[in-house]
Formats: sequence, structure tokens, C-alpha cells
Amino acid sequence: MKKKITIIGAGNVGATAAHWALVRNLGNIVLLDVMEGIPQGKALDLWQSGPLDSYSGTVTGSNDYADSADSDVVIITAGLARKPGMSRDDLLAKNVAIVKSCAEQAVKYSPNCFMIVVTNPIDAMVHTAFKVSGLDKSRIIGMAGVLDSARYRTFLADAVGVAPADVNALVMGIHGDKMLPMVRLANVGGVPITDLLSKEKIAEIVLRTQTGGIEIVNHLKTGSAFYTPGLAAVEMAEAVLNDGNRVMACAAYLEGEFGISGYFLGVPVVLGDSGVKRIIEFELTEEEKAALAGSVEAVAKQMEATGL
Ligand code: 2OP
Repeated sequence: MKKKITIIGAGNVGATAAHWALVRNLGNIVLLDVMEGIPQGKALDLWQSGPLDSYSGTVTGSNDYADSADSDVVIITAGLARKPGMSRDDLLAKNVAIVKSCAEQAVKYSPNCFMIVVTNPIDAMVHTAFKVSGLDKSRIIGMAGVLDSARYRTFLADAVGVAPADVNALVMGIHGDKMLPMVRLANVGGVPITDLLSKEKIAEIVLRTQTGGIEIVNHLKTGSAFYTPGLAAVEMAEAVLNDGNRVMACAAYLEGEFGISGYFLGVPVVLGDSGVKRIIEFELTEEEKAALAGSVEAVAKQMEATGL
């Protein structure tokens, strides 16, 4: 029996996620949006690329949540995207209402789904969906760390001159300027990057990772990144649907891990058929603890602003 994945929001991120979910043969896809025609047109286009690729899943565009019933995975991408000069926090007021509505309606039709929230500001939006959906904390996460870690790995690979797949690197904390690319743990084929790059170069890469989102927004002018965010969400969904036991940086609900309670923040988690199987906790240096405290402060401010 094929799995069912509903992607809410048929904008660039949602449509890219739908495409990758088909190419990765995750199952049958429902692309949902409030805008008449957009999900239907994009679904038709995706469907017709089937003969050119080996995927077998169906893809349906809809404006009706009833079509999402009994989804195994729901990915929420709906919401406004940044424009130049905007911070992710600037999206909060509008997007909290959108994500609330998406999560409430999605879980009405798919009470046993695994939910991945992509909408920004992600750490507050996934918390919003958590509160209104009633899903267990193991069944809902935010997509950010996979994107930020992919950027970090890309920049490190470029600097060292190796394949990005051979760079292992983790970004923790908030999906914002205070995110924490972990320098101490990053390595190239097991060799610490601190043995391969100068302190200055590493600092430059850390900063570029932290500002990777706005760098793209400033080029695009009318929106933000979508290729890597879309694929990142699909990687997370694939780990759950295939019981992959994959270790990924995801915004997960913390109850004491890393000394943090009551917030969603990016941490390394094991993703499998039951969702978040466990959070991989480890000793932080004093400097890392202080940096993570900055993330807690920032997400606490965001949560206050949601009024939830
Ligand atoms: C980014 O970092 C859109 O927040 C997303 O590109």
C-alpha cells in the first residue's frame, strides 16, 4: 500500500518538495493550496513528467483538505516568504495564523500523520502547529537544520576542495542569525576542519551559513530559497516513511535536553517510523552553551509574539 504525503502550500518550496517526493518514490502526493488552480496546474505538470522519470506515485492538486485524508506525512510550507530587508521574525504575525489553520485542518483529516513544518520563522511555527494539532512531540518537527547544515557542508566542501557528501557538519539552535554551526564537530572524512582550514576561513564560513538565507533573498528580490528547503523536507519525510533511523538536525521539542525545556530548536535527532525516535544529546562547551542560550532567547521572544 503506497504511503500518502500531503504538502500544504503549492508555492516554490511546496512544489519542489512534491517533485522530490515523486522522484524519491515516497508515495502518492497531494499538493494543497488555498489558491484555485495553482496546485492543480503544478500537479498536472509534475504528473506528466512521470514517463521521463521512473517514479510511480500519483500527484493530485487540490484546494480541499478532505483530499488529504489519512496522510502518513503532512508537510506545511504555506505562508509568506521574506523579501530583501525582512527578517524571518517579520513574517511571524501573518504566518502564525496561516500555520494554525493548516495544522488544525490537516490533523482533522490525518490524526496519525507525521508533521514537518517549513514555514518561517520555523521554530515558532512548528511550536504553533504542535500546540494546535495535539500531535505527540515525536510526531512533529521543523525543517531548518537540514537546510542550514547543507549550506554549512557546501561551503566547507568548497573551501577544502572535496565532495560535499564527504563533509559532516551540524547546525544547531534557531533558524536565524543566532543559529550555531558547530565548528568543533565538523569534519571532512573524519578529519576535523580545524586541522584543514584557518580560523579566519572557518569564521567566514560560519557567518555565510548564518546568513545563507538572506544571501539568496537579496539575489531573488521576490522570495527566498526553495530548492534545498524543498529537498530537505523530503529527506526528513523519507527517513520517517522508510524507517531510516537517519540522524538529522531538526527543530524538535526539547524537555530538558541540552538544558533547554519548552521550546522547539534545532538539535540532532534520530528519525524513523515512529518519528523522532530520540534526540542525540552530548556535552557542550561553555562557549556552545552560551551560543545556544542566544537561540533560546530568540525563540522565546518569537513565541511571546505568537500570543500562544
Ligand atoms: C532559508 O534560510 C527560507 O528560511 C529559509 O532560505
